[in-house]
Amino acid sequence: MNGINVNELTVKIKQKRTLRSLPDFFVRKEIAEYLGKHPDAGWREVFKFVRRKLHESYGAFQTRRKKKRYLYLEELEIVKEENGDKITRDGVVEEIRERILRTSVSSRERLEADYKNLYSQIRSVVGKFHSIMDLGSGINPVSFEPVEFRDVKIYSYDIDKNDTAFLNDYFKVMDLDGEARVLDIHDLDRVGKLPQVDVCLLFKVIDPLERRGHEFSEMLIERIRAKYIIVSFATKTITRRAMNHPQRGWFERMVTRLGMKFKTIRTKNEIYYLVKKT
Ligand SMILES: C[S@@+](CC[C@H](N)C(=O)[O-])C[C@H]1O[C@@H](n2cnc3c(N)ncnc32)[C@H](O)[C@@H]1O
Repeated sequence: MNGINVNELTVKIKQKRTLRSLPDFFVRKEIAEYLGKHPDAGWREVFKFVRRKLHESYGAFQTRRKKKRYLYLEELEIVKEENGDKITRDGVVEEIRERILRTSVSSRERLEADYKNLYSQIRSVVGKFHSIMDLGSGINPVSFEPVEFRDVKIYSYDIDKNDTAFLNDYFKVMDLDGEARVLDIHDLDRVGKLPQVDVCLLFKVIDPLERRGHEFSEMLIERIRAKYIIVSFATKTITRRAMNHPQRGWFERMVTRLGMKFKTIRTKNEIYYLVKKT
């Protein structure tokens, strides 16, 4: 790569607004991977490829409303203060949480499809759980009803620094026993060392990561230490048309081959596989 070094190229790639909150190491890793396969590539080629790839698996889900989240969090703090420093099951709290969820594309869609109904269906299959992990979480943990999740340990991981920082602040305000960290799901060794949990969510993350092929997903499912893994896929295309084949046949065949049983839940925009790890 002539005329520019990896650090300079990383800065250039991150100038795109939707890629700003990616950690540098993640961008550098993608550059190194491309250069590994195309050692003679010029920087413009690397720039174009890496930026497009990162945008597809990451940037396309960002909304402009992110900045508002901290304002909403302040509102939650005020409600809590007015309520004797307690978060209760409260319509105002719920309405503010909904506004936070609307700042992300996936959780906004899930709100339209009825989050509550989804969680009650999940609970009826999974039963009572004491720990939950959300991988590639975005801000999905904001959907956990705070009183219901008071005694549940929450682990949340994403590559986006802003999402994880926001979630840590949110957990504190909501008195939830949660922690959010930056993690690259491609790092399967780290995934294998994550805490053992009752339930692990992989909502709409398999498709963006799938460019590595089904093999990667298989290793990921095997490494996660959880009693249940709940994997979801979009059933609408990016242009919001219904897919002809919303089921992921390859995924069903894969978990069956691994000797795991699953149940499915269908909502307006998504299909969920509740996979029981044995
Ligand atoms: C379509 S969004 C889904 C967010 C959330 N699971 C939901 O359904 O509301 C995909 C998420 O995966 C995260 N992501 C993409 N690549 C990742 C990686 N390599 N490691 C960790 N997270 C990643 C993105 O930052 C984004 O939050």
